[in-house]
Amino acid sequence: MALKLGILVSGRGTNMASIIEAVQTKQIPQTEVAVVITSNPGALALEIARSFSIPIAVVDSLSYKNRRREFDIELAKELAKHGVTPKEGLVVLAGFMRILGADLVKQYAGRIMNIHPSLLPSFPGLHAQKQALEYGAKVSGCTVHFVEEGVDTGPIIIQSAVTIRENEMEETLAARILEQEHRIYPEAIQYFAEGRILIEGHQVSIRE
Ligand code: GAR
Repeated sequence: MALKLGILVSGRGTNMASIIEAVQTKQIPQTEVAVVITSNPGALALEIARSFSIPIAVVDSLSYKNRRREFDIELAKELAKHGVTPKEGLVVLAGFMRILGADLVKQYAGRIMNIHPSLLPSFPGLHAQKQALEYGAKVSGCTVHFVEEGVDTGPIIIQSAVTIRENEMEETLAARILEQEHRIYPEAIQYFAEGRILIEGHQVSIRE
């Protein structure tokens, strides 16, 4: 049975595009992108999803201000409607700027992934690249991890390190990290689709 991906986006959607391409070229085997869901009706990602003829759903975060539970319930409805169930689905957060509530995270335990532009647990939250520069870190990078309750926490699947250069600007660092994101996110989903990921407590191992 094909693995069904539900990709959640809020912005420009370059990670989403790299995942869709990896599905289409079969780097990620036996997988279908069942739906792209956005919290932002103006997200550029929607144009890209449309160009790939992928079903789109909008759960507008502005209509759910201070109603986090209802927002999550609506998300779960859209996921289920497209076959992205806790049994057959994988929820992929790709620049999704909302925090999922405890119930949804529990419902899809071990089946929600996120990408973050730092080497977690350093620099969680917004503007991770800027945080790394301001701190004076010499190395940063990106992390794909399973989602737990909490911001940018959860068992780490893959990380990629990027050396920070002298006088590095936020834009160049972000671009060099993004290049790595586009490599490791499809790879992590590939391992999942191949059934090679083992989670034990907070440890993730990839079987050969
Ligand atoms: C990416 O850099 C992703 O790592 C980051 O948002 C960007 C989305 O870009 N996510 C987070 O900061 C989550 N905490 P994209 O829309 O082009 O994929």
